[in-house]
Amino acid sequence: MTLRIEYERNEALLAWYGERKRDLPWRSAPDAYAILVSEFMLQQTQAVRVIPYYDRFLERYPTVDDLAAASLADVLRLWNGLGYNRRAKRLRDAARIIAESGWPDTPEDLQQLPGVGPYTAAAVASFAFGARVAALDTNARRVLSRWHGEPLDGAVLRRVAEGDLAAEAGDWNQAIMDLGALVCRPRRPSCTACPVEPWCSGPDGYVPPPPEPRFEGSARQLRGSIMRALVQQPQSLDDLRRETGFATEEVALALEDLSYEELIERDSQGRFQLAD
Ligand code: ADE
Repeated sequence: MTLRIEYERNEALLAWYGERKRDLPWRSAPDAYAILVSEFMLQQTQAVRVIPYYDRFLERYPTVDDLAAASLADVLRLWNGLGYNRRAKRLRDAARIIAESGWPDTPEDLQQLPGVGPYTAAAVASFAFGARVAALDTNARRVLSRWHGEPLDGAVLRRVAEGDLAAEAGDWNQAIMDLGALVCRPRRPSCTACPVEPWCSGPDGYVPPPPEPRFEGSARQLRGSIMRALVQQPQSLDDLRRETGFATEEVALALEDLSYEELIERDSQGRFQLAD
């Protein structure tokens, strides 16, 4: 791979992104805090589902200090329906650390915050602080594996991405996300519509993972149902069994997990409620 190929491919990618980029609200985010909120929400949730939650969240908690001062129960109420509620607690806890100690601005330091892994750290560092680092999620892994014609992962993926990355790292990361979402999809990619097709090995370098396990009847569905019920009011184990339609032992196990994660707690009458 010569530098010329990388340069031409990035020119084509960034020109395409300039014309076709999705109009997502966090792309005009006012500050690092708004970007952090968006990246927490976008962990495991599709962009279109995140948009209304992102808008409401920033209206309610416009600054990191506002979020740091919030009770967890209030944050969980606002998060209700987005799923993976641990993210809400970690985001509020991260806000408390930032409000106290200031912003970390390198990927390494951002990763010290709760809920911030290598991907989220790289995304925030490149979007908010202009760091020259590739944000490598499953989309980027798929796109780069196809460019290079072999499945890339781990340290090899990171090294290859560093070689491919454009100087405008933030735009490059966003462009790869849009390419992965709109063109270089996991199954049946639109190679004829792809702006970087001349510099790509084709779709075979990537093996799609097996489909996600069914949501219906899953522990994740049960956790969601419990949290939805608790947003309304405190509930007993029996209330929750009736409300969710799951077996008592399954509900009890889910409640144990949610308590361990400090998302819920007992009230004075022994009922379960959102943690404060
Ligand atoms: N997924 C994760 N981060 C994203 C972003 N900033 N834009 C679109 N999709 C994303």
